[in-house]
Amino acid sequence: MITTQEKPALDQKTIDTVKATVPVLAEHGEAITTRFYQLLFQNHPELKNIFNQTNQRKGRQPKALANTVYAAAQYIDQLEAIVPVVKQIAHKHRSLNIKPEHYPIVGENLLQAIKDTLGDAATDDIMTAWEKAYGVIADVFIDVEQEMYHEVSSQTGGWTGFRNFTVEKKVKESDVITSFYLKPEDQGLLPEFKPGNYITVKADIPGEPYTHLRQYSMSDAPGKDYFRISVKREDSIDDNPEGVVSNYLHNQVEEGDVLPISAPGGDFYLDTTSEKPLVLLSGGVGQTPMLSMLNTVVRKQPNRPVYYIHAAQNSAVHGLRKEVQNISNEHLQVQSFTCYSEPLADDQYDLEGYVNLNWMKEIIPSNDCDFYFCGPEGFMKVVKQSLSDWNVPDEQINYEFFGPNVEL
Ligand SMILES: Cc1cc2nc3c(=O)[nH]c(=O)nc-3n(C[C@H](O)[C@H](O)[C@H](O)COP(=O)(O)OP(=O)(O)OC[C@H]3O[C@@H](n4cnc5c(N)ncnc54)[C@H](O)[C@@H]3O)c2cc1C
Ligand code: HEM
Repeated sequence: MITTQEKPALDQKTIDTVKATVPVLAEHGEAITTRFYQLLFQNHPELKNIFNQTNQRKGRQPKALANTVYAAAQYIDQLEAIVPVVKQIAHKHRSLNIKPEHYPIVGENLLQAIKDTLGDAATDDIMTAWEKAYGVIADVFIDVEQEMYHEVSSQTGGWTGFRNFTVEKKVKESDVITSFYLKPEDQGLLPEFKPGNYITVKADIPGEPYTHLRQYSMSDAPGKDYFRISVKREDSIDDNPEGVVSNYLHNQVEEGDVLPISAPGGDFYLDTTSEKPLVLLSGGVGQTPMLSMLNTVVRKQPNRPVYYIHAAQNSAVHGLRKEVQNISNEHLQVQSFTCYSEPLADDQYDLEGYVNLNWMKEIIPSNDCDFYFCGPEGFMKVVKQSLSDWNVPDEQINYEFFGPNVEL
């Protein structure tokens, strides 16, 4: 039985064994991961309430957990080097309410999966070394997450776990995007959050055997007496089923209904101490964190130039357009631009097609800006590449994925 407390420091033999076997495990990564999730859900079906079952089916996230364990194991004798990466993941874990007691469960099933996959090659020495290594890696996560739990619970209006919010208002923003204005059912205070932060919604859908957890970015500034999220309805495409939670929110959740949500968090947020011109770039529903940033910057930094660039198919799916227009009309610091790939006959826009570097150079005066972006993977790849080609320093490039992290 693995416990995550009171781990002795690792001996040199363990360190050497783990480092020598990382490549072997990584080579069998896919097989180990598949076996791991099989075992995990067989032994602990209740975890289906936590893990995104659509991600499981699509096979994206499943690789992330095991791959991160191997990557961390390479730094097993200098774990402080992985803390920045751990922090990124820990924000997601905290938002999902992952607890210390979950770690031994993951550890046991991961080790069993390694054993099952490697067969005789998984000697007792190797297995013992990996058990110890997993323990110390898990401890790093647990410590970082405990700090985050402490931080959110000690904040004014903060909480840990899930708190019930009433849907005060449901507003259709476009053919596919709807906003939900949420207020705490207990009528208590709301915490401050950073523009760019997200919450997790726990959807307990009638007729579904498990709950479904999904993240949604705040689409309005902090400091209001409500949280606003804006959700795109994921329709069924080709043979793929429609999105579970977005359709539940659009079609079943009405004003007056209650949704459990976790406290806002995340490592993607606007740095309001920087005074560099700000470029907010979004594709589709990726505009939600940008809107929170836009609504914040005009209040907090009225002299900071802002270039707000949004790409969508056309006006029919372009949500919250009026809000952005109003802000840019009212605040001279803001210039907003629209790019439509499939404009409708009467649409007004600045560029037809896709965002590209030449266009960005025409509308943004220099590369010495802070860039924030979010959107579909293809959009993010183009923007990231364009910014690299424009020699924008890495520390001025910030982005968020609306799903498991992928290499851009
Ligand atoms: C940090 C963060 C912030 C986010 N903020 C927002 C936000 O502000 N607004 C917003 O709308 N979304 C946001 N998201 C995305 C959101 O969390 C959900 O992923 C989204 O709403 C889809 O969830 P769903 O349950 O409707 O779809 P899911 O059921 O999770 O399905 C997702 C997609 O996969 C497809 N699919 C389903 N099964 C398969 C299969 N077997 N093979 C292939 N494809 C399949 C579905 O058709 C759908 O398009 C955010 C995500 C993150 C991580
Ligand atoms: C050392 C152990 C662990 C590592 C290295 C790890 C790593 C990761 C990584 C890399 C991600 C993807 C983050 C992102 O891209 O957004 C992730 C997400 C996630 N993790 Fe962990 N994790 C660990 C332990 C756990 C435990 C103990 C649980 C709970 C039982 C858990 C549950 C989740 C869930 C539910 C997600 C969200 C993704 C989804 O549902 O598909 N993790 N983890």
